[in-house]
Amino acid sequence: MAKGAVSLIVLSVLLVGLGDVEGQAPAPSPGGPVDIFAVLEKAGGNYGIFIKFLNTTQVGNQVNIQVNSSTDGMTVFAPTDNAFNNLPSGTLNKLSDQQKILLIQYHVLPKFYSFEDLQTVSNPVRTQANGPDGQTFGLNFTGQNNQVNVSSGAVETQVYNPLRKDPPLAVYQLDKVLLPLEFTADHPAAKAPTGSASSTPAGKSNDGKNATAAKEPSPAPNGAGKMMSLELGLVSGILMFCMGLLS
Ligand SMILES: *[C@@H]1O[C@H](CO)[C@@H](O)[C@H](O)[C@H]1NC(C)=O
Ligand SMILES: *[C@@H]1O[C@H](CO)[C@@H](O)[C@H](O)[C@H]1NC(C)=O
Ligand SMILES: *[C@@H]1O[C@H](CO)[C@@H](O)[C@H](O)[C@H]1NC(C)=O
Ligand SMILES: *[C@@H]1O[C@H](CO)[C@@H](O)[C@H](O)[C@H]1NC(C)=O
Repeated sequence: MAKGAVSLIVLSVLLVGLGDVEGQAPAPSPGGPVDIFAVLEKAGGNYGIFIKFLNTTQVGNQVNIQVNSSTDGMTVFAPTDNAFNNLPSGTLNKLSDQQKILLIQYHVLPKFYSFEDLQTVSNPVRTQANGPDGQTFGLNFTGQNNQVNVSSGAVETQVYNPLRKDPPLAVYQLDKVLLPLEFTADHPAAKAPTGSASSTPAGKSNDGKNATAAKEPSPAPNGAGKMMSLELGLVSGILMFCMGLLS
């Protein structure tokens, strides 16, 4: 129950944030260290939703810290506001706050990849997203004729020319949000009003392991796995209510 309350607070903050996208203050200190927020804000008004998610999930801060401290650099795939708006209706509502963090981390690679690198990289490529049981969420890249596509297994889309192309941080525009296959496996069940996501057949998952893991109580102290399944119904209910208030 306490966790439900925490979800409510976190998600309300997130949603209030989402409604306030136009209220962005410009990023300070353009001459300072590499700042993912500044890169996206400088790129125009198309990334407000992604910026909000980077902020509320703390993934943006992680990127800035890691870009400054790691020798490998980082790569960020930035879906446009249209990409978020074009998601099947209710997609974001069905995600727990833990899943929202995973979703944003899934758009971040812990290594700098130039556009040329992406054309020839060996698949799958590790992302920042790690599941509650330590499973890693990978992305596949295919390159041909100076074009690169990225696939989550559930979503494939073209990688556009970089918004920022110099090490240590590459940032590319995407026209679609990369939904992990693991999330879309929850899709039909999460639509049910009672939120019976935990009964999703394992066969729909990438390798069956993830779906099974989500059903079992997580050994992790934060119980993230349990939250992903058991609280999905509660969270989507709260989210729908909040979205209703905002629209
Ligand atoms: C992140 O969120 C905080 C609190 O809502 C806000 O003050 C800050 O301006 C936001 N930063 C960016 C880069 O959006
Ligand atoms: C970047 O890293 C250096 C050395 O590790 C550290 O001194 C500095 O405070 C960091 N800057 C930021 C903005 O994190
Ligand atoms: C990328 O996807 C588009 C349409 O989905 C397809 O036409 C194109 O051939 C793909 N390109 C590569 C390099 O896979
Ligand atoms: C990547 O490609 C491999 C081999 O084709 C496949 O097994 C895997 O499911 C793909 N993963 C994603 C995220 O698309």
